[in-house]
Amino acid sequence: MRKLFVLCTAGMVMLPSMLSAETAPGDVVFGELGAVEASLTGTAGDAEAGLKVATTKSLGNCMACHVAEGWADLPLPGNIGPALTSVAHRYTEAELRGIVINSKHMFEGTVMPSFYNVDGLIRPGDGYTGKAAKEIAPLLNAQQIEDLVALLQTFDEPEEE
Ligand code: HEC
Repeated sequence: MRKLFVLCTAGMVMLPSMLSAETAPGDVVFGELGAVEASLTGTAGDAEAGLKVATTKSLGNCMACHVAEGWADLPLPGNIGPALTSVAHRYTEAELRGIVINSKHMFEGTVMPSFYNVDGLIRPGDGYTGKAAKEIAPLLNAQQIEDLVALLQTFDEPEEE
């Protein structure tokens, strides 16, 4: 009976981590040039959900720095980064995933934020409390990254010569 109890307890403790197949920010494997081959979630991204992430200020806020297909109606399309209209031709899925997770691997010193990274941040604080952050969460979650990768793959306008 006791043995069974121990087994059950162990099962309950292990279950959550077994259920979530998500790759944690610290476990992401970057390949050459900062590409990330493996999906973070194993669940295919949804381009429509990605559009919401990209164009929502409190989420990806990509439109603050980039223009892309279908973003023309947004106020003040960003021109800090390159237009994303043909990125599907320039980058593979793995490269796009790497750029969104942590663009610093591909573009050294870039101003583009790392959206799925918790390392190497400069003394992050806990809001405006003046205290150190308790737990640092990435800017976006794993599925939001995959949704953005799906969206970026739809940006396939011909490249300008
Ligand atoms: C603060 C501005 C900023 C934000 C916000 C931003 N980016 Fe960027 N992004 C850049 C800059 C600048 C570059 C060019 C890389 C460099 O610094 O040389 C870039 C490059 C890229 C590239 C490669 C484009 C190319 O043609 O080489 C992709 C793809 C990209 N960003 C996607 C995104 C997505 C998706 C988001 C939102 C989740 C986002 N960016 C948010 C500034 C930004």
